[in-house]
Amino acid sequence: MRLLISALCLTVLCSYAAAYDPLDPDGNITIKWDVVSWTPDGYVAVVTMSNFQMYRHIMNPGWTLGWSWAKKEVIWSMVGSQTTEQGDCSKFKGNVPHCCKKTPTVVDLLPGVPYNLQFSNCCKGGVVAAWGQDPSSAVSSFQISVGQGGTSNKTVKLPKNFTLSAPGPGYTCGPAKVVPSTTFLTSDKRRKTQALMTWNVTCTYSQFLARKNPSCCVSLSSFYNETITPCPSCACGCQNKKNCVKGHSKFLDMVGLHTPKRDNEPLLQCTHHMCPIRVHWHVKVNYKDYWRVKIAVTNFNYRLNYSLWTLAVQHPNLNNVTQVFSFDYKPLLPYQSINDTGMFYGMKFFNDLLMEAGPSGNVQSEVLLQKNKETFTFNQGWAFPRRVYFNGEECMMPPPDTYPYLPNSSPINTLNFQALFTSFLLLLALC
Ligand SMILES: *[C@@H]1O[C@H](CO)[C@@H](O)[C@H](O)[C@H]1NC(C)=O
Ligand SMILES: *[C@@H]1O[C@H](CO)[C@@H](O)[C@H](O)[C@H]1NC(C)=O
Ligand SMILES: *[C@@H]1O[C@H](CO)[C@@H](O)[C@H](O)[C@H]1NC(C)=O
Ligand SMILES: *[C@@H]1O[C@H](CO)[C@@H](O)[C@H](O)[C@H]1NC(C)=O
Ligand SMILES: *[C@@H]1O[C@H](CO)[C@@H](O)[C@H](O)[C@H]1NC(C)=O
Ligand SMILES: *[C@@H]1O[C@H](CO)[C@@H](O)[C@H](O)[C@H]1NC(C)=O
Ligand SMILES: *[C@@H]1O[C@H](CO)[C@@H](O)[C@H](O)[C@H]1NC(C)=O
Ligand SMILES: *[C@@H]1O[C@H](CO)[C@@H](O)[C@H](O)[C@H]1NC(C)=O
Repeated sequence: MRLLISALCLTVLCSYAAAYDPLDPDGNITIKWDVVSWTPDGYVAVVTMSNFQMYRHIMNPGWTLGWSWAKKEVIWSMVGSQTTEQGDCSKFKGNVPHCCKKTPTVVDLLPGVPYNLQFSNCCKGGVVAAWGQDPSSAVSSFQISVGQGGTSNKTVKLPKNFTLSAPGPGYTCGPAKVVPSTTFLTSDKRRKTQALMTWNVTCTYSQFLARKNPSCCVSLSSFYNETITPCPSCACGCQNKKNCVKGHSKFLDMVGLHTPKRDNEPLLQCTHHMCPIRVHWHVKVNYKDYWRVKIAVTNFNYRLNYSLWTLAVQHPNLNNVTQVFSFDYKPLLPYQSINDTGMFYGMKFFNDLLMEAGPSGNVQSEVLLQKNKETFTFNQGWAFPRRVYFNGEECMMPPPDTYPYLPNSSPINTLNFQALFTSFLLLLALC
C-alpha cells in the first residue's frame, strides 16, 4: 500500500516536476546535410545549422562544429566557412585539399569576406539569433565538397561523433540520421528541386554541462517595502574574486582592457554576487486594474558587449501583458495551454546591444500588466518572477523568505518552501 502511495505521489510529482520549468528545455539546434551532387570521388553538400531554441542564441565568438569522418574522407573545398586546421595533406600532389584531418573543426567566416567565399546565411562570425527573436537570423549555412567518400546514397557513410561549441561547452549532439530529402524552391518559385540525400544531427543544451555556477542573478524591490532584496552572495561563485575590478579603479582607463579574450574569460566588476549579469525586478506602481514593473539588466563584465541578448521570464501574470515600453516582447507557449512565460529582448539599433560594464552597461524597460482578477496579489512575493533566464542561462533568485513583503503580512513560509524544495530536488534525482 505504502509503495502504491509513494508510486502514485511520484507520478503526480514527477509530472509536476516535468511541467515545472516551462523554459527548459528550450528546443534544439539541428544540423542538416543536403547532398546536392555526387562527384567522381565524393559529394557536395549544403550544411544548414538551424537554432530552434526560442531564447538561447549563439553569441560571440560563435559556433565551432566538429565531427569524425567514417572513412578516409577529405574536404576539397568549403564556401561560407573554413576548418581551423588543414592537417596533414602531404600525400596529395598537385590539387591539395582544404582539410585532411580525420576530425575537422569548422568555424564560420567573418563578415566582409570576399564575395566568392560567401554562402547564403554565412559569414556572421558564427553568431546565430534565437528562433524566438528572429527566425530569419537563426540559421547559419555553408557548402562543403567532400572527397574520398561514398559517391552514391548506397556507399556514403554518415559522419560521426558531432560536437558543437556555441560557444563553450553545454551542447550534446546525437547521431546523424537519414531523413526525407529536403526540397528546395527555385528563386522564381516555379520549380522544386530535391536534395539527393539528407541527414540531420540534433544537438541539445544543458546548463549543467556548460558551467558549474550560474552566470546571472536576480534582485528584487517594490513600492510597498523599502527593502531591496539583493542577489544572493557569491551567486555566480566567488572563486574569481581576487581578479575582479573595483569600480572607479584607475585600472579601468588602461588601454586594451576591454579587448575580448579568445577564451571569453570575463573581467568582472567586484560585487558581492560576482555575476556578469544582474536582472532587477521592481514592482513599481499599483493601479486599480493594472500594475507596473520595471526591469533593469546590468552588465558587470568589462570584456563583453552582449549583442542580441534575451531575457526569458516566468510569471503567472504574463498572460496579460498590456504594454512593454522599451523592449520587444513575445509570449512563449511551451505547452500551448500555459501562457505564463515570455521573452524580452532589445529593440533593433536602440538597446539590442547591452554594453560592457560601466555607465552604459545596462538596459531597462517597464511593463504594464492587467491584473489577473482571481489570482493577483502583492502577498507572499506573488508579484516577483518565478524564473528568469538571461541568454538562455537560468539566473539565481534570492531565497523566497528574503523577498520584500507587504507590511503586516507574513513572509513566505520558509519551512514549507524548504521542504517542498528538498522534495523537489529529490524528485529531480528520481525522475
Ligand atoms: C528539434 O527541434 C525541432 C523544432 O522545435 C523539433 O521539430 C524536433 O523534433 C526537435 N528534435 C529533437 C530530436 O528533439
Ligand atoms: C531536419 O532538420 C531541418 C532543419 O534544418 C528540419 O526542418 C527538419 O524537420 C529535420 N528533419 C527531421 C526528420 O528531423
Ligand atoms: C537512393 O537513391 C535512389 C535513386 O537514386 C532512391 O530510389 C533511394 O530511395 C535513395 N535512398 C536513400 C536512402 O535516399
Ligand atoms: C566516436 O566516439 C566513440 C566514443 O567516444 C569512439 O569509440 C569512436 O571510435 C568514435 N568514432 C569515430 C569515427 O571517431
Ligand atoms: C562595445 O561596443 C562599443 C561600441 O560599439 C565599443 O567601443 C567597445 O570597444 C565594445 N566593447 C567590447 C568589450 O567589445
Ligand atoms: C498569451 O499572452 C499574451 C500577452 O502576454 C497574449 O498577447 C497572447 O494572446 C496570449 N496567448 C494565448 C494563446 O493565450
Ligand atoms: C487575462 O488573461 C486571461 C487569459 O489570457 C483572460 O481570460 C482574461 O480575461 C485576462 N484578463 C483578466 C483581467 O484576467
Ligand atoms: C519589508 O520586507 C522585509 C523582508 O524582506 C521585512 O523584513 C520588513 O519587515 C518589511 N518591511 C515592512 C515595513 O513590512
